[in-house]
Amino acid sequence: MEIFYGIEDMGRFSRRQRSLGYNVALVPTMGYLHEGHLSLIRLARQIAERVVVSIFVNPTQFGPGEDYNRYPRDLERDQDLLREERIDCLFLPSAEEMYPEGHATEVRIIGPLTDVLCGLSRSGHFAGVTTIVLKLFNIIRPTMAVLGQKDYQQSQVIKRMVQDLHLDIQIFTGPIVRESDGLAMSSRNRYLTPGLRKQARELHASLGLVKKKYDDGERDAMKLREVGVNYLRQLAPDCQLDYYEIVDRETLRPLGRIGIEGAAALVAAYFGETRLIDNEMLI
Ligand code: PAJ
Repeated sequence: MEIFYGIEDMGRFSRRQRSLGYNVALVPTMGYLHEGHLSLIRLARQIAERVVVSIFVNPTQFGPGEDYNRYPRDLERDQDLLREERIDCLFLPSAEEMYPEGHATEVRIIGPLTDVLCGLSRSGHFAGVTTIVLKLFNIIRPTMAVLGQKDYQQSQVIKRMVQDLHLDIQIFTGPIVRESDGLAMSSRNRYLTPGLRKQARELHASLGLVKKKYDDGERDAMKLREVGVNYLRQLAPDCQLDYYEIVDRETLRPLGRIGIEGAAALVAAYFGETRLIDNEMLI
């Protein structure tokens, strides 16, 4: 596994691989890797001859008061895991490398994809994400990128950017990897106290109940939403809901009645200070 800290070296490696005719798949991450990240790497391995993983805790996607400074980091462990996965290259830039003095450009997707859901409670977050992801795309020039369904809105926003800016990159999404009790794996789960950790499993359980009601024939989005919200109120009393929405899968607009268009249930909630997200595709 090659490790590059600099933009020049990273670019040279990628250009060479592409000139040899190899597909290069990028899996962008913020590190503190878990099975969710590793599943995306395995997917990347299936679709491309060369796999590049980036680890960069991107300051611009954290709002004031969010957890940028205490975001968990364990580079040694991450590198061991990546070696075991036999990836070809790890890109590990510093904040100074990515945002040198004088950096003044932001890439922002406007409108309903970023105004709603996580975009409402985390103002500026998606602009930080699209800015760093476009920079990574430009440095690494991958032929493909692999994202997780866990951050569903993020993957929709990045797909929009790729389409709007005519980027020649195929985006793949991998399914959510969960702990044995259903909690979606996340680097942030380690913040949870044992008591909150126990309640956090109900996030996924509530989505399961919503999906079951949908499968049983309920098509009224408000009623489905209430099923999820009430379940959480009862079984996770310490959970502070940020949003619980039934939305169009593509546009993320809230739905009244669910028809044949795709629909998804998306939830975000605080367990203490820790904000967790999860989702379930209904159709
Ligand atoms: P990070 O939170 O490290 O996630 C990196 C990738 O792993 C994302 O595509 C995310 O959706 C995926 N992922 C996280 N948990 C997962 C799980 N339980 N199952 C499957 N996939 C999972 O998302 C980011 O970093 C950043 O915003 C980034 C895109 C790297 C830009 O800074």
